[in-house]
Parts: sequence; structure tokens; C-alpha cells
Amino acid sequence: MTEYSSNGVVAYDVEDRIAWVRFNRPDKRNAMSPTLNRDMMEVLDALEFRDDVGVLVLSGEGPAWTAGMDLKEYFRETESQGLAGTRKAQRESYGWWRRLRWYQKPTIAMVNGWCFGGGYGPLFSCDLAFAAEEAKFGLSEINWGILPGGGATKVAQELLPFRKAMYHAMMGENIDGRTAAEWGLVNEALPLAQLKDRVTEVAKVLLAKNPVALKATKDAMRRVGVMSYDDAEDYLVRAQEAANSYDNEGRKEGIRQFIDEKSYKPGLGAYDK
Ligand code: ACO
Repeated sequence: MTEYSSNGVVAYDVEDRIAWVRFNRPDKRNAMSPTLNRDMMEVLDALEFRDDVGVLVLSGEGPAWTAGMDLKEYFRETESQGLAGTRKAQRESYGWWRRLRWYQKPTIAMVNGWCFGGGYGPLFSCDLAFAAEEAKFGLSEINWGILPGGGATKVAQELLPFRKAMYHAMMGENIDGRTAAEWGLVNEALPLAQLKDRVTEVAKVLLAKNPVALKATKDAMRRVGVMSYDDAEDYLVRAQEAANSYDNEGRKEGIRQFIDEKSYKPGLGAYDK
């Protein structure tokens, strides 16, 4: 059964442990308004630790994945509220993208159609990305007079070879899903009619993996990019050891001895192992 966020601009279904989350402003090509950004955070919150959710897929209703930031509601209307309005809108959008980047569950962008500008934020936030060959991707900021902000420049620079990234950002030309896959912006491109089946297949593979290892793996892959080899080596040893002890009951025992047994005070010493 389809559920909706408070303002109805995000829709989602949970089926067989896959949460199918959708931008739901098809009449506005799923442009990200402040309301949509708040609703998306609400939905991410609601789904992140549900036991019946193992993978989250983000797609869009109608012909768009997302046409980027809402030029009227996100830019014009928040700017008219001064710097405080602009910063609030930025916090709300960057906030859910960041939340998605470090999401507890594996995430897949299923790019069914238009993906512009600010849409590169959530695109990059998703661990994997599959696109319709018919989808169109563009850094259209240059076409209306701003630089690709909100992380879009960073995403292009991270995912694309330098010359392609520069061309993409400066020319304001769109590329289709197939080119996006060739350039590395998404993992694969398929005809739209086959997209959901392929994403379901990938999600099922992920559902069969150890969830602690998956979370450790996806975080590690993002973290090591800016580390030296030695730092990464050290981080990975520690991350694996942390994952090994994820189900460590010790801290629960520490709480029990303080709250229930009243046998020690953590401020004054350690619990009895
Ligand atoms: N912000 C606000 N409204 C938008 C946006 C947007 N980003 N994208 C589409 N809409 C609205 C249109 O204004 C229109 O509203 P209306 O029905 O009230 O007139 C409605 O959505 C439908 O849009 P159309 O342009 O009629 O749809 P069409 O399918 O012909 O074209 C396309 C789709 C190509 C995506 C076009 O809407 C477009 O160019 N949108 C802007 C894309 C863009 O540059 N986004 C900003 C990127 S930069 C950034 O995100 C920071």
C-alpha cells in the first residue's frame, strides 16, 4: 500500500524488504522545493531503522527523477526571506542528501527520467545508480546563470573524468542514460521498461548480504577517498574491528548495572565485566 509524507510530495511502498521511495511532484517534474526536502527527511527517518526495510530505492513519479532545485520555491522565494531563508533551505536539502549518503541501509538511485543540477546531490548520495537509457542528465545551472552548487560540481568532479566534468558543467548540454553509464555517473543504463526489474534484482542480491558488513563497506568506500594509503589501511582495520564487535553486549551490561542494579556509577568508574 502506498504511503505518503506529510505534504504528499514523497510517496513510498515497502515490498519484500525494498522501500520504493519516490519524488512525488510529477506536475513540477519533481523539482526539490523546501517542502519536498523536509518531507524527504521525514520519510528517510521513518524508514531507516524499520526491520522490514533492507534496501532503499529512490525514483521519481512521472517523466522526471528530479528536475533539480525548485527555481521558484527553493531559490526565488527563500531569497526573498533574506540570508536566513536561504541558509535554512540549504540546510534542509543538504541535510537529507547527507543523511542518505550515510544511510544505514544500502541505497539505489533508479533514475527514470530528467535529472538536473541539485539532483546530482541525491544521485551521488545513493550507493548505486541505475538509469533509464531515455533519462536525461544535465548541469543546467550555467543555462540560467549560476555555478553548479549544492555539491553538484563536487559530484561531477568525483564521478567523471576531469575533461568530461568540465565540459558537462560549462556547456549545459544534456547526456542520456547510456552516456551517463559510459561516463561513470551511474552504474548501468537500461531501457526504461527493464529498469525496475534490474533494480529489483540488484536489491535482492544486497538483501542477501550481511547488513553490518554492507554498512561498513559503503561507509569505508566513501571515507577512504580523501585518505592517504596508510590512513586508509588503518581506518579499514579499525572499521572491520568495529563491525566485528557490533553486536557486543558489553555496553548494554554497563547500562544495566548502572540503571537497574545500581552497582556502580559510570562517572566514577567502570562496570563489572
Ligand atoms: N523548478 C521549478 N519548477 C519547475 C522546475 C524547476 N526546477 N522544473 C520544472 N518545473 C515546473 C515548470 O515550471 C512547469 O510548471 P507549470 O506547469 O506550473 O508551468 C512544470 O514543472 C512542468 O515543466 P515543463 O517545463 O512544462 O515540463 P517539460 O516536460 O516540458 O520539461 C524539463 C521538463 C526539461 C525538466 C523542464 O521543466 C526544465 O527545464 N526544468 C528546469 C530544469 C533545471 O534547470 N533545473 C534546475 C537545475 S539547477 C539546480 O538544481 C541548482
